[in-house]
Amino acid sequence: MFHHPTCLIHPPGVPAFIETQFPIARLSAESYKERKANNGQTLTRLGKWWGRKPLILVRASILGMLMPASNNPKKDRQIYLKILTMDDAGTWDRCKLAMQRKTKRAAFDALPYAERITHCERPENVIGPTESAWAEINAHLGTSATRLPELIEQLGQRTFGHTPRVGDSFCGGGSIPFEAARIGCEAFGSDLNPVAGLLTWASLNLLGGGKEVREEVMRVQAAALQAADRQVTQWGIEHNERHERADAYLYCVEVKPEGCDYFIPLAPSWLVGEKSKVVARWRRVAGSDRLEPKIVVVSDTEKKSATVADSRAIDPFDVGRSWSVEALRGPEGLRHWTNDDVVPRPGDVFQERLCCIRWIDAEGKRRYAAPDAADLACEAKVLTLLRDRFAEWQREGFIPSKAIPESGDKTDEPIRTRGWTHWHHLFTARQLLTHGLLAEISEGLAKSRKASHAACLLGIGRMADWNARLSAWMFHKGNEKGNQVFYNQALNCHFNYSARPLEKLENTFSILSDVGRDTFSSKANVRLSDARDLCETCDLWITDRPYADAVNYHELGDFFLAWYDKQLAKAFPGWTPDARAELAVRGDGEDFRRSIVEIYKNLTRHMPDDGLRMVMFTHQDPAVWADLGMILWAAGLKATAAWTISTETEAAGIKQGNYVQGTVCLVLRKRAANVPGFLDKVYPLVEDEATDRLHAGTRRTRRAELQRRRLPTRRLCRRAQSAHPIR
Ligand SMILES: C[S@@+](CC[C@H](N)C(=O)[O-])C[C@H]1O[C@@H](n2cnc3c(N)ncnc32)[C@H](O)[C@@H]1O
Repeated sequence: MFHHPTCLIHPPGVPAFIETQFPIARLSAESYKERKANNGQTLTRLGKWWGRKPLILVRASILGMLMPASNNPKKDRQIYLKILTMDDAGTWDRCKLAMQRKTKRAAFDALPYAERITHCERPENVIGPTESAWAEINAHLGTSATRLPELIEQLGQRTFGHTPRVGDSFCGGGSIPFEAARIGCEAFGSDLNPVAGLLTWASLNLLGGGKEVREEVMRVQAAALQAADRQVTQWGIEHNERHERADAYLYCVEVKPEGCDYFIPLAPSWLVGEKSKVVARWRRVAGSDRLEPKIVVVSDTEKKSATVADSRAIDPFDVGRSWSVEALRGPEGLRHWTNDDVVPRPGDVFQERLCCIRWIDAEGKRRYAAPDAADLACEAKVLTLLRDRFAEWQREGFIPSKAIPESGDKTDEPIRTRGWTHWHHLFTARQLLTHGLLAEISEGLAKSRKASHAACLLGIGRMADWNARLSAWMFHKGNEKGNQVFYNQALNCHFNYSARPLEKLENTFSILSDVGRDTFSSKANVRLSDARDLCETCDLWITDRPYADAVNYHELGDFFLAWYDKQLAKAFPGWTPDARAELAVRGDGEDFRRSIVEIYKNLTRHMPDDGLRMVMFTHQDPAVWADLGMILWAAGLKATAAWTISTETEAAGIKQGNYVQGTVCLVLRKRAANVPGFLDKVYPLVEDEATDRLHAGTRRTRRAELQRRRLPTRRLCRRAQSAHPIR
C-alpha cells in the first residue's frame, strides 16, 4: 500500500516510482515493438523527424514520475504494470483474437514477454486497464480513476495541487508533448526548428484534435487530390495512348567521358525489378551519341550489369574501360546550377534522362517499357508547364526557392557532387510540377483553416521525402519502387532515381488514415523557441536533447522547410520559417557544453522545488556521458535514478560503430543550492570526471588522462545498463 493511502497530498520526501524501480526489460520489448512498426507508428505518418522517442517510453516515464513509491515495491510494480496494461492479464487482454483462440492463457503467460507481445496490440492502441484492474489500482493508490487521464489528474493534484504540466524544450517530432497530452497532462512543447514545431503542433491538434477537425482535414486533402488529378489528366502528362497510366518513372544521370563517343547512362545495377525479372539493356544508335534503352524480361536476372561502381563510370560495352567520377567532375568541380535551372543545361557534365516507365492498365496489370517518342514529348510538356508557373510558384511558396547552405556537413554533398545549389534542384521537373500543383490547390481549399493548411503542408513535406531526385530506385523483390530520401540521416545523391505519378502520392499526401478517436481534453501549447529563452514553468520536464554530433537537425530540416517556407508563415503568422542554425545545439565541444548548461539551468529555474526532470540520453561514447555529469551538476540538478531502455532497432543501425542502441533515462531533482560540491549518491562516479574537466589543464599524460576518464564513466554506463537503479 501507498504510505498514506487516504492522504490527498503526496508527502514530501516520498520518492516517485521511477526513482525506485522501472521495468526496463518489458519497456525495452515494448519500445522495440513500437519502433519495428515503422510507418505504423502513431506519429510517423505526420512526417519525418530523426530520433523520435517511443511513445510507450514517454507514457511509462510520466506515470513513473507521478506515481509515488510505497513501502511495498512488489505491489508497486504490479500496479504500475497494470496501469500500462503490461502485466500478465493486461498483456493477455491485448492479445489479438486469432492468437487467443489457438492458445491457452497459461501457455501464453509462459512465453517470454518479448515473444508474447508480438501477438498483441500496442498498449497505446487499446482502451486501457479493465474495470477489475482499475479497482486494484485505485485500492493501492487511493484514487478513484476509471481512465488513464483521471488517474493522471488525481496523481497530479496530489503532488502539485493541479493537473500535472509536462514540458519538453527539444520537442522534435513531438513524442513527449503528444503522449503527455494524450494521457491527460497539460503539455508544452518547444523546439528551435519550425519543422519540428509543425510536426508537434500537428500531433496535438490533428491527431488529438477530435473527430470534427480530422474529418475536415481528410475532406480538404481528398478534395485537393481530386482537383490535382483532374488537372494532371487534362494535361495528359501521366497517360498514354493505350489508356494506361504511369505507375513509376525511372531516371538516370548520364555522362560522356573524354575518349568515349557516347553518353553512358549511370546506375549501380540495370536490374529494374527482381521479382518481375526486368532488366534494362543499352544499345548504340547509328549517328547518335545517346544510347537507347531496351527494357526486357529475362529468365535469370543479371544484377551485375553496373555502369557505375566504386565511384567509377563503366563503359557498358567494355567493362574494362572506366573513369573516375571525381575526375569527371573536373578540376574546378561542376557548374553550379542557378535558380532558374530545373534540368541540366546542354554541356553540363551530368545530364539526366528518363530511361524507363512502369505503366498500369485499368485491370491493374503493370508493365515496364522504355520511353517512346510520345513519352519524351510528354516530358518536354511537363517542363514547359513548369516553366510557365515557376516564378509565380516560387513567389507564393508552392515550390522551394531557397539556396542550400554551402557550409553544412550534409548539405555540401548535393552542391559538390551534382552542382545543385537550391533546394528545388533536388527534384525533377515532373516532381516540382506535381508538388507545386497540389500545394497551389491546397492553399486555395484550406484558406483560413489552420488544421487543414498545416496538414497539406505536411503532406507536401512527405511527398518531398518520397519523391525527389534523391529517391533511389529499389529493384529488390517486394519493393520495385522509389526509396525514401531520408532512409538515413543524409542527403544522398544517387545516379538512378525515380519519380512517382500523382496516384502513387495520394497515400503519402494524406496525413490521416482514419477519423480516429483521440481528443485531447487538456491544454497543449507549442512554441518555437531557443531552449535558453523559455519562461514556461512545468512540473515535469522531459527532454531529449541533440546528442552531441549525431544528427544535423537544422541542415536536414531545411529540406522540408524549403517546401513549407512562405506557406508556413501564412498558416502560423507568428512563426518565422527559419531554422536559426546559429542557435542550434550541436557539436560536442566547449560551446556545446556551455549551451546545454545554460539550457538546463533555465529549465531548473522553471520547475517547482518538488518537480522532476528526466533527461533522455542516447549516446555510447563514455566521454559524452562524463560531460553530462558535469553539465547536470552545473545546472543545479541531482540524479536520483538512471535506467537504460533499448529504444533503437538494429535495422535503424545503418551506421555501425557508435550507433546508439539504448536510451538512458536519468531522473533528476533540484539540488539544494547550499550543498557544497557534488554530494549526490549517484554521481560520485561521474564527479571524478567532472572535477577533472573543471580543472582541465593539469599536467597528466594523455594516456593517464584517458584511463582516468574511462574507468569511472564505464562503471557508470555499466551500472546504468543493469536492471537496477544506481543507488
Ligand atoms: C533528439 S531531438 C528531439 C527528439 C524528440 N524528443 C522526439 O521524440 O521527436 C533534439 C531536438 O533539439 C532541437 N534543438 C536543437 N537546438 C535547440 C535549441 N537551442 N533550442 C531548442 N531546440 C533545439 C532540434 O531541432 C531537435 O528537434
